Amino acid sequence: MKAISVFPGKPNSVHVADLPKPSLDQVSDGRGVLVKVLRVGVDGTDKEINAAEYGAAPPGYDFLVIGHEGFGQVEAVGPNVTEVKPGDYVVATVRRPGNSIYDLIGTNDMTTDDTYFERGINLRHGYLTEYYVDDVQFIVKVPQGLKHVGVLLEPFTVVEKGIHQAYEIQRRLKVWHPRRAAVMGAGTIGLLATLALRLRGIEVTTFARNSKPNLNAELIEAIGARYVITQELPIIEGGKKFGPFDVIFEATGNSGVVFDSMQALGKNGVLVLSSVTGGDRMVQVPADRINLEFVLGNKVMVGTVNANREYFEMGVRDMSQAEAEYPGWLSRLLTDPVRGLENYTELFNKLTNPNGSIKVFCEVAAL
Ligand code: BGC
Ligand code: ZN
Repeated sequence: MKAISVFPGKPNSVHVADLPKPSLDQVSDGRGVLVKVLRVGVDGTDKEINAAEYGAAPPGYDFLVIGHEGFGQVEAVGPNVTEVKPGDYVVATVRRPGNSIYDLIGTNDMTTDDTYFERGINLRHGYLTEYYVDDVQFIVKVPQGLKHVGVLLEPFTVVEKGIHQAYEIQRRLKVWHPRRAAVMGAGTIGLLATLALRLRGIEVTTFARNSKPNLNAELIEAIGARYVITQELPIIEGGKKFGPFDVIFEATGNSGVVFDSMQALGKNGVLVLSSVTGGDRMVQVPADRINLEFVLGNKVMVGTVNANREYFEMGVRDMSQAEAEYPGWLSRLLTDPVRGLENYTELFNKLTNPNGSIKVFCEVAAL
């Protein structure tokens, strides 16, 4: 079976490897699920892995099968699986348990281990292949009415986790009814964060760089959010005009934006950081003022990465609500399908030269 792979540590090594079809007995206790892959999305993480900035092969291999945004259909299940059946549509989570206390209680997205195991990213093969097998505890069912957008679930879970963390943290306030939010960035995560906040009835201002008209701006406005071009209205000014923001979700990939966001955050507000910034950018900031406003305003800032099964389940519920409230909106994010694993060069070209693309994904098999 074909699998899109890289040689970790070797830049631009993406290629097609050949692997045997996995079998159910790779999972203990009869709890295995064999999934036929239908679609797999790619993102910045895949770009970095192919640039050899990130990623490691599983033990015993010199290559890593990439792809962590999978969507597929169950082909067979082990004798002790009751949760899903052949024909069901599913998405598998990405991170697998390590050894910290957080892993032991089933919250491996909160691991304190330094090494982590992530399918398609680090030390575990991913989903850009024809079939995979996993333990049913890592497999989440997607209703068939969402199959056309199921490939967006994994990126959506990153947003779900961030927002859920914000609400959890804000329980410190006894009463928290966020009314105004800002989202920094209008890429896939920024768009999905805007959606998730709109679904919670919050007024959202999304800050982005690209001038209008553009598809991302149209999508933001189509769900009743405001699209602000930072060249015209910088974040701090935007905060004065449209804030104060009770919650800010940062997803630009630019760490400098974090410090502007800290200044646009309202009193008692929470700032959620989701950008994985591998660089070494330096910025100068008004540190005394930012610190003073954080202290006097009882503000919180929290980082978030990865997502556990519960966030996949929340993502399914929010995607269902999105389809009911904004029918067809999620599909408009699926701008760049690439048919067939053998067309990996095209897949990566689209990912590295995004010409107005939002989600680039591989159609491994027909839905
Ligand atoms: C994935 C997460 C993962 C993170 C860090 C992201 O692209 O969506 O699941 O935890 O990369 O590896
Ligand atoms: Zn990702």
